[in-house]
Amino acid sequence: MEAMDPRSAKAAQKPRREAVLSPRLGAALALLGESEVLADIGCDHGRTGVRALRDGRCKRVIASDISAPSLNKARLLAEKQGLEGSFEFRHCGGFDGYSEGEADAAVLLGMGGELIASILESGGRIAQKLSRIVMQPMRGEAELREYLYKNGYHILDETVCLDAGRYYQLIAARFDPENAEPLPSFMPENWYQFGALALIKREPLLLAMMERYLSIMEEKLERAARSGELPEALTRERDNTKALIELYKGDLVS
Ligand SMILES: C[S@@+](CC[C@H](N)C(=O)[O-])C[C@H]1O[C@@H](n2cnc3c(N)ncnc32)[C@H](O)[C@@H]1O
Repeated sequence: MEAMDPRSAKAAQKPRREAVLSPRLGAALALLGESEVLADIGCDHGRTGVRALRDGRCKRVIASDISAPSLNKARLLAEKQGLEGSFEFRHCGGFDGYSEGEADAAVLLGMGGELIASILESGGRIAQKLSRIVMQPMRGEAELREYLYKNGYHILDETVCLDAGRYYQLIAARFDPENAEPLPSFMPENWYQFGALALIKREPLLLAMMERYLSIMEEKLERAARSGELPEALTRERDNTKALIELYKGDLVS
């Protein structure tokens, strides 16, 4: 057998930069399952679509972004990977450049929860026709979850990941008013910061995420108390998080 050039051997060992997906994007793809045409809304670098194609999770990707330079990054990556034939690129906000039924799944990752909710709302029938939407809000998890619960979305799955020291919540849902369930009765009323499904599944990282959130709320409350305040909203966050931690460790009764 011919000896391999040491430089090629080194290159072969080194994973291609775009082939290494962050835990956050990896968790999103794991929630996605399989689809025919994946819409990557707010695609930016384009790594999610490239990896979904490479892993056989979809046959085609429509990558879109409101920013032309961001969309261009995705285009360049797809070309570099020789995958441009399986991609379409659209410079648009949310679902504006899409038509009903042309994608069967979508990812909306790395945006604020309120923005994701507003994209679903303005996406109307296009968003409602998708069989699976995977969302990963950077913040505003409660606002997004509240929107989903109150607007006919069925929460299909939820997970939590840890990436570079930060916890992220991920939600898979589908518009399905007939099967959409209300917030289970064991959850604090009208409180959407953490997911009921993630709690039922005892998502391994959910406990650590809630404990970190609780200590942040406690620190904020201590600071407020020093200036003689007792903010109601923070107290509620603390008490509800404590209650959920107890539920996580104990039995859930719905
Ligand atoms: C922080 S990046 C996240 C990129 C990638 N989805 C990820 O999670 O790694 C957010 C991207 O969303 C895009 N964006 C923001 N608002 C948008 C909207 N209304 N419609 C489509 N894209 C949007 C931004 O231009 C940016 O490229």
